Amino acid sequence: MQLLTEYRKDVPRVERFNVVSRVTHWGHTVTFLLCLFTGLPLFLNVGVDSVGLLSMANLIHRTAAVFLTIFLIYFVLFNFVGIINWIKDILRFGMNDLKFLILFPFEFLGFPVKMPPQTRFNGGEKGNSIVTPTMVILIVCSGYVMWFPQLFSDGLVRLAYPTHGIAMILATVMVCMHGYLGSFHPGSGESFWGMWKGTVRADWAKHHHSIWYEETYGNKEKAKEGEE
Ligand code: HEM
Repeated sequence: MQLLTEYRKDVPRVERFNVVSRVTHWGHTVTFLLCLFTGLPLFLNVGVDSVGLLSMANLIHRTAAVFLTIFLIYFVLFNFVGIINWIKDILRFGMNDLKFLILFPFEFLGFPVKMPPQTRFNGGEKGNSIVTPTMVILIVCSGYVMWFPQLFSDGLVRLAYPTHGIAMILATVMVCMHGYLGSFHPGSGESFWGMWKGTVRADWAKHHHSIWYEETYGNKEKAKEGEE
């Protein structure tokens, strides 16, 4: 069974994600998963600490959380324009995105459906772009409040605990669906290469994100045709 689609160098490719986005994305994936697996025993309060495993989990959890924060700051500092364009794309949510969300379960189950044209991010990705980063920001903020309670009011510290847990659960559900859809789901493999190597096949981009492709690369294509 082939899990990912083949990475084709011999066909025209277009840039999808710059290096800052990719470093942040994979940096967040590693640190998020480290935080999740070391945070779960702390959250569920399981395990006996006689051999120091819980203390070790706590240390890894806090260290990974600091790196996750550093990636967040790095992304904001070095990809500010990218973030603005990302927000602008999310705000373009419209009928085509709604239709995409309605049709997606049918496509997921293997029914032949014709998806409406999509912008840079499709309807589902726009939803993920809102929910996951919001949950990650809530997790980060509530985490530091719990870590340094002496700096914050009692009410805020009390609020931080359920916030951290609920945001963690929501983010985990999103990441499980997103991780599968962004890699092994048939037809999604090419999007994985966009996040891994930075480029996707031009024909895939034209098919899956036709509005974005037309707006970003359409004119260059027309100019090239004019030269020929
Ligand atoms: C578990 C492994 C993961 C895989 C295989 C994966 C894969 C991908 C891919 C392929 C894209 C680009 C989709 C496109 O072409 O637009 C993407 C985008 C994105 N990823 Fe991940 N990702 C993973 C984990 C994570 C984690 C842990 C987070 C957050 C903590 C995250 C947050 C995002 C966000 C916010 C986007 C942009 C919106 C979207 O395209 O849905 N990802 N991911």
